[in-house]
Amino acid sequence: MNSDIQKLLGKNRKWISKTVAQEPEYFKKYSGPQKPAYLWIGCSDSRVPAEKIVDANPGELFIHRNIANMVHQADLNILSVLQYSVEVLQVKNIIICGHYACGGVKASLETADHGLIDNWIRSIKQIYEEHRDEFDGLADDEKADLLSKFNVRRQVYNTARSSILQKAWARGQSIAVHGLMYNFHNGQLEDLSCSIASHSEVPDIYRLH
Ligand code: CO
Repeated sequence: MNSDIQKLLGKNRKWISKTVAQEPEYFKKYSGPQKPAYLWIGCSDSRVPAEKIVDANPGELFIHRNIANMVHQADLNILSVLQYSVEVLQVKNIIICGHYACGGVKASLETADHGLIDNWIRSIKQIYEEHRDEFDGLADDEKADLLSKFNVRRQVYNTARSSILQKAWARGQSIAVHGLMYNFHNGQLEDLSCSIASHSEVPDIYRLH
């Protein structure tokens, strides 16, 4: 086994010892059936550790992460996570968490060839086009940060228009989708005030009964 993996296993053993020393029942406490109240959809970026930044314990967050926190309408992975968390776990809140200085969003502003991933982030370019006037005069970093916020809003919008959320609201299930931004320079999470919590906030054409 290579030393990188040995290092991780060593850290795991130390963590177990430290955790059990502080709270002997820790593993027993968190090994029952899960009933998380939140589905967290965030970026894969290693500087955005979901549980850590909201100080969550095991069982509190159901998590999906991908590059640039996308909710693509034909992505079987995100759709499976959405269906399971909404229909089986019955989460109350879905959080789309973007972040400042997102590499995926920055890449979408470039014309360089990044490989396959250009297809994953292409719809972010579309958001840029739709809001092009609002980017005039901004420095590159500012453009990326503004585009990240627009992207979070778009993913909230996409989630709310999915068949899974539409059917949940049609059944009368109480569930809301929220957009947040994380700043890894100071740890702050910001509410983008773009939550969608009901059928009435989504155009009729998306409704399913
Ligand atoms: Co990112």
